[in-house]
Amino acid sequence: MTWTPSSWRALPARHIPSDYPDPAAVLAVEQRLSKKPPLVVASEIEKLKAELARVSKGEAFLLQGGDCAESFAEFEADRITRYFRVFLQMAVALTFAGGKHVVKVGRVAGQFAKPRSEPTEVIDGVSLPSYRGDNINGSAFTPESRIPDPERLVEAYNQSTASLNLLRALATGGYADLENVNRWNLKFAKKQGKASAEYVKLCHRIEESLEFMDGLGLTGPAGIATDTVDFFTSHEALLLGYEEAMTRQDQLFGSGAYYDTSAHMVWIGDRTRQLDHAHVEFCRGIANPIGVKCGPSLDADELLALLDKLNPKNEAGRIVLIARFGSDKIAAGLPKLVRKVTDAGRSVVWSSDPMHGNTLKTASGYKTRPFERVASEVNDFMDIVRAEGAYPGGVHLEMTGDDVTECTGGATPVTEESLSSRYRTHCDPRLNADQAIELAFTIANGLREGRQQRRLAAAGL
Ligand code: PEP
Ligand code: CO
Repeated sequence: MTWTPSSWRALPARHIPSDYPDPAAVLAVEQRLSKKPPLVVASEIEKLKAELARVSKGEAFLLQGGDCAESFAEFEADRITRYFRVFLQMAVALTFAGGKHVVKVGRVAGQFAKPRSEPTEVIDGVSLPSYRGDNINGSAFTPESRIPDPERLVEAYNQSTASLNLLRALATGGYADLENVNRWNLKFAKKQGKASAEYVKLCHRIEESLEFMDGLGLTGPAGIATDTVDFFTSHEALLLGYEEAMTRQDQLFGSGAYYDTSAHMVWIGDRTRQLDHAHVEFCRGIANPIGVKCGPSLDADELLALLDKLNPKNEAGRIVLIARFGSDKIAAGLPKLVRKVTDAGRSVVWSSDPMHGNTLKTASGYKTRPFERVASEVNDFMDIVRAEGAYPGGVHLEMTGDDVTECTGGATPVTEESLSSRYRTHCDPRLNADQAIELAFTIANGLREGRQQRRLAAAGL
C-alpha cells in the first residue's frame, strides 16, 4: 500500500473516538490545523534523530519524561518552569554519573490524548464515557463534559505552542546554567535521609569538575556553552487526525520527506501497535524518531515485523523501543525481545518505562505506583539489556515538578494514607519532584558503578 499522510484512514484504528456528535466538524478543525504553523521543524527532528543514533551506539543516554496527560486547567508558566527545572536536575546527575551526553526529550507540549483501558467509567451506578484527555473531552463526571469536542484540538494546539515557546526560552535563555542546576541538586541532596551522603558527594564532584573546566578556560563567553541545552518534545501519536493535520512535506532540504511537526518524536502506545492497523501505518511514513511501547503481550517475531515496517532501512536513531513490563514481569518478558532484535542486527534505542506496568489500586481506591517497584524495574532493565549484549540507553518517566502525592514511597515517603492530600493527576500517577530526582540519582549511581567496574576490568584489576 502506498503511504500518504491519510493512508491510515482506510485501516482499523483503536482508541480514536468515534462518538463525535458532528464528524464533519472534526474534519473542518483538522483542515484549519493543517494551515497553522508547525510546532517544530525538520532540521530539529533530524538533529534529535542524530542524537538518538548516538544513543543506539551506546554513546549517549536518553531521558524522556513529563506528565501522563497535560491539562488545560493546569496550564501555568510556573508549572512548566518547575517541571523543566526538575528535568534539568535529573539530566545533570545522569550526565555526570554516566559520563555521556544526555538526550533530553520532554513528554510535553502535546501530550494530551489518552488510550483508556475501559470505554466507560461508572461512579455510584452512573455510567459515562471515560475521560480521554483534554484534547478530546472533559474530565468532569457529567454527560456534557464527556462528549468529544473537536474545538479542543485547537486549544491543545495553542497550549502546545505556548508551552514550547516557554521551554525553548528556558533551554537557551540562561535558566539551564549548569552551576545553577547543580546548586539545586545540592539543596535536594542535603535534605534526603539515608541516601544524602552519596548524593551530596556526587554534587560536589560536579562542582569540582565545573571549577576545573573554568580553570582551563573551557567555559565562559569564548568557551563551550554551559547555560544552553537542546530540549526536544514528544507525545503519543494517538489522535491520527491531529497528527495528519500537523504533517508537512519538507521544503527546506528538498528531501520530499514527511515530518509530523506536532513534536520532534512521537510514540505508538502499547494498545495501538497492531501491525496492520492505522497507528503503525501512519508512523511508518513520517520521518520523525518513533517510539514503540513494548509490553508483556508483545511477541518477539511481531516486534521484528514492526521494525521491518517502521524502519525498513534500519536507520539508526529512528526507533526507540520502550519496555514497560512491570517489575514482576520484566525478567520473563524482556530478554527474548532484546535477544531477537540484537541477533537480527537491528539498530534501536532500548529505553525503560518503569511506570505503566507498575500501577495498582489502593484499598481506598487511588491509582498509585510504588517508588520501589519503579526503581526495581529500571535496575532490572539495565541488567537484562546488558546481559543480552545490548545497551540500556534510556528511561521514559511520568513525572512532574510539583510536590504531588500520587506515587507511594521514596526517601521522603508518600504513604498510602497521604495520597489524598495532593493527588492531582488527570490520568496516571506521576513521580513528584523529589521522587523524580531521587530516581535519577539512583540510576546515576548504577551508571557510575558500571563505569567504575569497566575501568577496573580494563586495568586488569
Ligand atoms: C502512556 O505512556 O501514557 C501510556 C498509555 O503507555 P502504554 O501505551 O505503555 O500503556
Ligand atoms: Co500514563
